[in-house]
Formats: sequence, C-alpha cells, structure tokens
Amino acid sequence: MLSKIATSDGHGEKSSYFDGWKAYEDDPYHATENHEGVIQMGLAENQLCFDLVQDWIKNNPQASICSAEGLYEFHDIAIFQDYRGLPEFRNAVANFMGRVRGNRVTFDPDRIVMSGGATGAHETVVFCLADPGDALLVPTPYYPGFDRDLRWRTGVQLVPVPCDSSNDFKITRQALEAAYEKAKEDNIRIKGLLITNPSNPLGTFLDRETLTSLVSFINEKNIHLICDEIYSATVFAGQPDFVSISEIIEEDNVVCNKDLIHVVYSLSKDMGFPGFRVGIIYSYNDAVVSCARKMSSFGLVSSQTQHLIAAMLSDNEFVDKFIAESAKRLANRHKHFTWRLEQVGISCLKSNAGLFLWMGLHPLLKEQTFEAEMSLWRVIINEVKLNVSPGSSFHCPNPGWFRVCFANMDDLTMDIALSRIKAFMLKNKESATTTTTTRPKKKLCWQASNLRLSFSSRRIDDIMMSPCMSPHSPLVQSPLVRARN
Ligand SMILES: Cc1ncc(COP(=O)(O)O)c(C=O)c1O
Repeated sequence: MLSKIATSDGHGEKSSYFDGWKAYEDDPYHATENHEGVIQMGLAENQLCFDLVQDWIKNNPQASICSAEGLYEFHDIAIFQDYRGLPEFRNAVANFMGRVRGNRVTFDPDRIVMSGGATGAHETVVFCLADPGDALLVPTPYYPGFDRDLRWRTGVQLVPVPCDSSNDFKITRQALEAAYEKAKEDNIRIKGLLITNPSNPLGTFLDRETLTSLVSFINEKNIHLICDEIYSATVFAGQPDFVSISEIIEEDNVVCNKDLIHVVYSLSKDMGFPGFRVGIIYSYNDAVVSCARKMSSFGLVSSQTQHLIAAMLSDNEFVDKFIAESAKRLANRHKHFTWRLEQVGISCLKSNAGLFLWMGLHPLLKEQTFEAEMSLWRVIINEVKLNVSPGSSFHCPNPGWFRVCFANMDDLTMDIALSRIKAFMLKNKESATTTTTTRPKKKLCWQASNLRLSFSSRRIDDIMMSPCMSPHSPLVQSPLVRARN
C-alpha cells in the first residue's frame, strides 16, 4: 500500500546514537525533580551564549515583527515568499560567514541558498550532484545523521574512508585512494567527497596542508568536494584560526576547478539556533546554485526567522562580540572538562573546536571489540546515567571511543556529570585492585553488571519518525515542551 521509502529501513537511525536519546527521554535528569536521571551528553548543542542573544533581542525589539516596535513590518514579512530569501538575510549571512572566518574570505550573497538546517542543505546538495546508486566518500568517524540525511531519500550511498586512532584520525591521501579504488572495483561510481571541518565527533579542524591535498585529490579524480563547516565558529579561543575550504581555493598555488566545491553551513551550532532551521548551501558552481535554489522551495527558512536573523547578523558589533565570547566560553568549558577527566585517568583526543570531546575509554574495555564497547556504553547509560555516544555509531574503526557533549548544559549539571564519571572510575579502580589481590582473574566492576538496556528498534524508529521528534533536538524532553505539558 505504501512507497518503498515509507516501508523500507532507510532512515538509518536504528543506532545506539539514537538509543541513548531514548534512554535520556525515559528518565531525564532534572536538578530538582529527577536528580538521579540520565544527563544528556549526546546532544551537540551550543547553549553557552544565550544571555548575549537575549540581551541583543531586548535591545533591538524592532527586529521582531511580533513586537510593538516591529509590528509595522508584519504585513510585508508575513506575505514574503520569494525562494531566493530576503536580500538583507542573504547579505547578513554572507557577512556572518566572512566574520567567522576572520574576514580572510568573502562570500557572495547571491550564492547563498537557504535550506531547512544543514540537514536539508546536505540532501539538496546531494540531489544536485549524484543519482541513486552513486556514492560519496566520507572519512570516519563521521556524524551518524549523514547516513539518513544524504542517503535516505536520494538513494545515494556513503562509502566510509577509514581513518583511525593510529595517526589521530588524520585523513590521508592513501586512505582516500584505497577507498576510491575499492569502490571502483565494486562498480560504485564515486561522485564526491564529504568532509566535516571542524569535525563532529573529533573536535579537530583540518590544517592547510590536508585541505590542499583534499582539493588536489578531488580535482585529479574530477569529483565534488562537499565541506560541512557548521562548526566553524566553535574553534576555541587561543587556538590557531580555523581554515575554511573557501580560503584554500583562493590561494595562488592551489589549482582547483571551483565548480567542484560546495560548502554546507547552518546556524545550528555556531549560533546555537538548531530550532530556527537556518541551513545554507554555498556552492561555487552556478548550476548547483540555480538548481538548489529551485529545490529550496521544499525547505525554506520562514520569513519571520529570516527577518530576525538579518537584523541580528548585520549588527557587526554584536556578531564580533558573540564570536569572541562564544569561543572563550567553549574554550573554558573544554579546558575544565578535559582537566577533570584527566584527574580520574581519562584521556581525550587533543581537540581545538566543537561542542564535544572524543573520549578514549579503551583501558576499560574487557577486550578491544565493538561488543565490549557496547557493553561499556550500556553501563554508562544505565548505571552512570550519562547519555554519551559510542564511537561505533560514528563508524569509528577502533573500539573504545565515546563522544561526550559538553556545551548543552549549565555548570551545575556539568559538575554532576563529572562527579558521576569520577565515582565510576574510582569504583572501577577499587574493584580492579580487590580482584587482583583476591582472585587471579581481573574484572572491572561494570563488567559483572547486569546489562539492562534493550530497546526495541521498532520503537526507536517510531519515535524518530514521529513529527514531534527531531534527531537533533529531542523536543519531547526540551524544557519548552516540558513547560507546556
Ligand atoms: C556535522 C553535522 N552536519 C549537519 C548536522 C545537522 O545540522 P542542522 O541542525 O543544521 O540540520 C549536524 C548536527 O548535529 C552535524 O553535526
């Protein structure tokens, strides 16, 4: 009775990444009402600078068409529907993208195409570049949502390029060539390479040399390069400047067919506005701009949001202050978090950006397998009551890595999360010491645990598919929805 899309399994969210959200949803931590609940550390949200945004809104009431000061524009904005978007919105976003990149590069507002978040932007780009059955190379570990966003409705495949811990997950020419050649042997047509810079989940950004080598790789193969730069303003204060692909292709010594280059952007991470669904496709290819713009009718940003964002992001004083302050607060959060983890013997991949840490828990694995990783993950959710995301859900080739989000909570919640980790590590240490002195076989405390977490994947899928649940923002749990209930 229904289509293949409706009845098949292409949504790609039967994964531990989303199971963790379900665990949180069933038992969400609340400072006063559910102190023992699960703390959500699986959500890459940037909630550290809302005070700055709120102050700006208070000082600029005319920016909203729903305020006494802005009401005079209500009519014009409410009826606006041109899919190119408000010119002032495109100008402001182009301005913001340039400022985030230290004004080392400028963006042409006429190339800004709107979409429903980066989610919609990715899908639109893929619709423009590839046909069903074609494939994109994607270095691992990568954001689990890509398996849905890029594949589900387009019929395009993703071919992982295994990058591993032996060289801190660097993307090498060798790994790219091997994945490309293997796909060719399997008769898979590679149409492009997708990178996320800065990386989710690694929290690192690519250096000039790597970017230059990626540009020469895709030019040699004559395939596209899609650069997801949605974390570009999350680079921590005090770190080297973020390098955008847009800078690299302007360099004199770089030979590049710009028609192959496409940037995906959004305000979900840099500004912390995932609910506004402001996604951007910035392509250097005129035909892609034109096709994506036509397609954007399916996922426009509402004119009310465009209007507000246009005012906010064209205020350069605010933008510069926001970018600097956000980078500082993220740096402080990251420093505190990694330091507290180090105190209890946990190390993380050295990172310089992002809203998360890539935490290495291999020493705690019973054996170096993904089964052991899942067992440990279940204990972290069930007993330590933290929703962190296992590396396997990011296609990480090495077991034992976990992504821990640190910018979606207040200081108090962060401290509680860190003390839970500390208690868990101490318990482990004690139990390891006791067992080695009393028994020959060494067993960590959690390894004897009763592993209780078991979700019917059918139920998860129902939830993920339900209109009130977005994989990026579990609305069921959001304070807003809770307040309404
Ligand atoms: C790398 C990456 N790309 C795209 C997205 C989707 O972002 P948006 O909320 O703008 O759709 C995410 C969300 O977590 C992400 O991490």
